[in-house]
Amino acid sequence: MSRMTPNILDKVPAHVPPSLVVKENPWHSGTAPPHDWLRQVAGDSGFRYSPYNPLPQDHDDGCWIAVGAKEMRAVLIDNRNFISKGSTGVGKLIGEDLVLAPLESDAPDHQRLRSVVQPFFQPKVVKARQERIRALAMELIGEISRHDRCEFIREFAIKLPTQIFLEIMGLPVADLPQFLEWEDTAMGRNGPDDLAETWTKIRTYLDEAIEMRRQTPRDDLLSEVVRGTEAMGRAPKAEALGMAMILFAAGLDTVVTALGWHFKHLAEHPDDQERLRRDPALIPAAVDEMLRAFSFTTLTRTAVRDIDVCGVSIKAGDRVVCPSTLGSRDSHDYINPDRVDFDRGSLRHLAFGFGQHICIGMHLARLELVTAIECWLATMPQFRMPDGYQPPWHGGISFGLDALELQW
Ligand code: HEM
Repeated sequence: MSRMTPNILDKVPAHVPPSLVVKENPWHSGTAPPHDWLRQVAGDSGFRYSPYNPLPQDHDDGCWIAVGAKEMRAVLIDNRNFISKGSTGVGKLIGEDLVLAPLESDAPDHQRLRSVVQPFFQPKVVKARQERIRALAMELIGEISRHDRCEFIREFAIKLPTQIFLEIMGLPVADLPQFLEWEDTAMGRNGPDDLAETWTKIRTYLDEAIEMRRQTPRDDLLSEVVRGTEAMGRAPKAEALGMAMILFAAGLDTVVTALGWHFKHLAEHPDDQERLRRDPALIPAAVDEMLRAFSFTTLTRTAVRDIDVCGVSIKAGDRVVCPSTLGSRDSHDYINPDRVDFDRGSLRHLAFGFGQHICIGMHLARLELVTAIECWLATMPQFRMPDGYQPPWHGGISFGLDALELQW
């Protein structure tokens, strides 16, 4: 357990009541699963304040934590008082005035920039990829099923969504190992060293890929980003680059992480696994329940004026973070929220965020998760984790598993 040093305590602003300060680092869980650790130290309602920030490059800049779903929704819906600009910290990190839109853009630009990529992620457009997703999943399972065990993250979770994403973006699958190495560092999993250098490499790579499409457009998302920002953008070059960078970060990491948590749950709960095997029609509801129970991203906003929210005084310039896991496990919204219950039937969870920035890739993410589980359960026997095995996990801005050993 990491304790606060006096030095860090000194950084808590005077307007923060000491009773609201979380004494432990909530983003690094040690031996406890990160979802449980955060709940344990942050409590279950209102706002708390942490001297630590989940973004690795802003680690020592404190932040408010919206703990309850009510507080989280109040912040996320209020784009007049809480802005997303600078929420990834990447522009500051690489010393460039770069907006990773649409995530980091605010009204009125946000809607304009979001509409550049939105058509690509509509349910109907995404659904057209289903057969390709299924074929790739079956190919990967075919290889895995020749053995009686696998390291699920490396052999399946990383390969399926990233390959689909690169096909959508039009980036070469041969570069995937390089992308994954960059992504790991960019998400802060190797500590704060090399962060700026890695984001600069991603920036340079994507800038070149964009320039190629500017000269010779293709039938891919990156060309659409170039075309759309030229048609609708105010600063097409910078906007296309920022957009490509956020798509890169979101598209490579998120579904991999979700697959890890979902398959860990199924491996630990043979009854749930068997139920889905017998009744595959239940898989979409099960996926949403697992997205709820294992929500893993933390959203960031900055207050632009002094404001009281749910009884707490937040000052202009304060950072507020919204860990989706806390909002999705709020006991006011769910009975027994830590329990995974496929019959809940609720889509009110915050796994994909809330308000105008709600995840643009959620239909693709759901389709990949449902298809992956359908293919596994239709093909593979009961699977479990080896006796005594505890998969390694990380906290931070996105809670995930580093590995998951499965056997059958
Ligand atoms: C299980 C998988 C996923 C989860 C849990 C997830 C989660 C989220 C969350 C919580 C937000 C809101 C961030 C905020 O308000 O600050 C978001 C936004 C976004 N996501 Fe996802 N995401 C997933 C998959 C994807 C995929 C596959 C893509 C693209 C290929 C994607 C692209 C985006 C983009 C571009 C935004 C910004 C939207 C905007 O600002 O208007 N996401 N995601």
